[in-house]
Amino acid sequence: MTLAPCTAQLMSDEEFLLFRDSIYKHCGIYFDEDSKYLLEKRLSRRLTALNIATYREYYQFLKYNRRKDQEMMDIMDILTTNETYFFRESYQLKAFTDEIIPELIKTKSAKGDHTLRIWSAGCSTGEEPYTIAMLIRDISALHGWNIEIIGTDISQRVLQHARRGVYGKTSFRATDDWYLKRFFQQQDDGQRVTDEIRELVTISHLNLFDTHRMMMLGKMDLIFCRNVIIYFDLAAKKKVVESFHKTLFDGGFLLLGHSESLMNISTQFTLRHFKNDMIYQKPERSAPGGLS
Ligand SMILES: C[S@@+](CC[C@H](N)C(=O)[O-])C[C@H]1O[C@@H](n2cnc3c(N)ncnc32)[C@H](O)[C@@H]1O
Repeated sequence: MTLAPCTAQLMSDEEFLLFRDSIYKHCGIYFDEDSKYLLEKRLSRRLTALNIATYREYYQFLKYNRRKDQEMMDIMDILTTNETYFFRESYQLKAFTDEIIPELIKTKSAKGDHTLRIWSAGCSTGEEPYTIAMLIRDISALHGWNIEIIGTDISQRVLQHARRGVYGKTSFRATDDWYLKRFFQQQDDGQRVTDEIRELVTISHLNLFDTHRMMMLGKMDLIFCRNVIIYFDLAAKKKVVESFHKTLFDGGFLLLGHSESLMNISTQFTLRHFKNDMIYQKPERSAPGGLS
């Protein structure tokens, strides 16, 4: 057997900076100098797929080719970290079902409003929005409400998986058997989320850096954005959190991952101490001329 000649290219420091800046500008994901090898290794897959010999040539392609937008989307599929599973961060979900939702039911009902809009921003393969749907399904006080759960992500690959809704073992590491029996159907290649749950969830493509498209989603009562902005630098975190603030209704909630906080990012939210967790809330607007 003859081995194919090794065509692996090295990325120069200058090329690294060019790619890094383009990717950062597009989606906020920031590769520091220590991640040069990682970026080089991941992008090498695109060079092979496109049969391009050098990183320099590939950079020109990404900048000027007529299918450059599609290419950036393909890069997102290989550069994002998509780790997720059903019922992740159970104590936060308990705060959601036992404390936040009852509070929202009360405040919204008092205004005669029976709609609830929940956004899973950076939903990856869909476990998070489907978990939210399963929890919502079991809250009898919400029956008859108009509920929308929207899952969005920048990677087309994970969204395809989310739309299909079929999952393997690793997605169920924190799932009670009870939920498995109730909301999943066994298929040859995994467990499929039932239509009853899928109908509550809309899956769409959205780059959190695309402020215009974000605004088109409309106002939200709750935003789950867990384990997404950890890959952004400070300026990018600030930009995205500012958009979340605009997107939330007054009194709406922002649920971040357990290792994330808004420290140094935003002072526009109040940190509420619930029994089960601490959650950020956009304050109700104070009455004009009010004290605070
Ligand atoms: C680690 S997963 C988190 C999934 C889920 N939220 C959870 O906590 O289990 C992070 C997701 O954020 C997405 N993401 C990263 N940058 C993004 C951006 N600029 N816009 C939208 N999604 C992004 C990635 O594609 C990835 O699927």
